[in-house]
Amino acid sequence: MKRVGILGAGGFTGQMLLRLLSHHPEISVVFISSSEYAGKSLADALPALDSIQYKGLSFSMHPDSIENFPDADLYFLATPDSVSLTWAPQLVERGYKVIDISGAFRIQDAAVFEKAYKLKHNAPEALLQAAYGIPEINRNRIASASLVANPGCYASAALLSLYPLSAFPPETFGMPVLDGKSGTSGAGGRTEKEALPFSGVYENFRAYKVQGHQHEPEIRQEFASFMGNPAASLRFTPHLIPMYQGILMTAYIPVASPENFSIEKLRKSADDFAHRELFVRHYNDPNEIETRKVRLTNFADISYHYDSEHHLLIAVSAIDNLMKGAAGVAVQNLNILFGFPEEMALL
Ligand SMILES: NC(=O)c1ccc[n+]([C@@H]2O[C@H](COP(=O)([O-])OP(=O)(O)OC[C@H]3O[C@@H](n4cnc5c(N)ncnc54)[C@H](OP(=O)(O)O)[C@@H]3O)[C@@H](O)[C@H]2O)c1
Repeated sequence: MKRVGILGAGGFTGQMLLRLLSHHPEISVVFISSSEYAGKSLADALPALDSIQYKGLSFSMHPDSIENFPDADLYFLATPDSVSLTWAPQLVERGYKVIDISGAFRIQDAAVFEKAYKLKHNAPEALLQAAYGIPEINRNRIASASLVANPGCYASAALLSLYPLSAFPPETFGMPVLDGKSGTSGAGGRTEKEALPFSGVYENFRAYKVQGHQHEPEIRQEFASFMGNPAASLRFTPHLIPMYQGILMTAYIPVASPENFSIEKLRKSADDFAHRELFVRHYNDPNEIETRKVRLTNFADISYHYDSEHHLLIAVSAIDNLMKGAAGVAVQNLNILFGFPEEMALL
């Protein structure tokens, strides 16, 4: 049994982690923190998560010093970026594995991070050691890491559909334009809840952070890496849709050299990817991609259409932002770190 703590266990992603780990046969959750629920048993605070696994487990107040973290094998940080920045390096220093669900360790260039997150990066060494946590693309690095930077939800939806493009030389494509739509649970967590009342989203649909969403540099960094083109760029605009969870991503990708491109070769690349990767599903028809099919699952569904008249490739993908976009992939990363079957507690 591996012992696990969750900082921020009362938030959206923390609760989803608790839900998944209650079915994990190799994990014992030994510590959960929340200022809202401190002192309450899990069963009293969140009755929907009551489970035999969690008998006797109560919320603690967030620790204010590293000595106050109980001994564990791994900590999940389901916390704001600034909180993860403080604790992740200290927990790693203490010898614990850390899976950080915030954005604090995803962007390797500290200057790019500081511009995107409006936060000073106080742990550049930890940043360089962190493994970017998309298992389907970076499994080997994750397996040997002490600190895993769990990917952003929009980033997972985008990168898993862009990855099959790496079967082509990078000059085949122009700059992708990504159009992401998320349910409200993906747009900032409970801390932004005042900005997202029911009446603000019901019968409404809007773009937000049109310039400078913090996931754009993360997606660009990883896209440039697997395309083997450091200069590769892209543009991303998120939208808020009137539902609770789920992301649908549509990427418009100009095909710059059509003579190098064929949709059959791309579909073969996507088929191979989906055959290798349990949680990737490739559909031939983009009309089949919908958030309902991935809700509460760890699957990423991907599909492609090529408009040969305009030399435009359209990639459509869907994930559940709280699952494949956060807690689901975090449990997948835990399984990789400890050598458990990757699908444990996820299927
Ligand atoms: N929502 C998504 O779809 C999603 C997807 C991927 C990644 N993420 C990232 O995951 C992280 C958590 O997001 P969320 O959606 O779960 O947000 P959330 O619902 O607002 O939860 C944030 C959690 O952080 C805790 N927290 C606040 N200040 C803290 C402190 N000083 N020390 C320890 N814990 C503290 C809160 O605890 P209290 O109980 O005390 O309020 C709360 O449980 C964020 O960094 C977010 O960007 C979210």
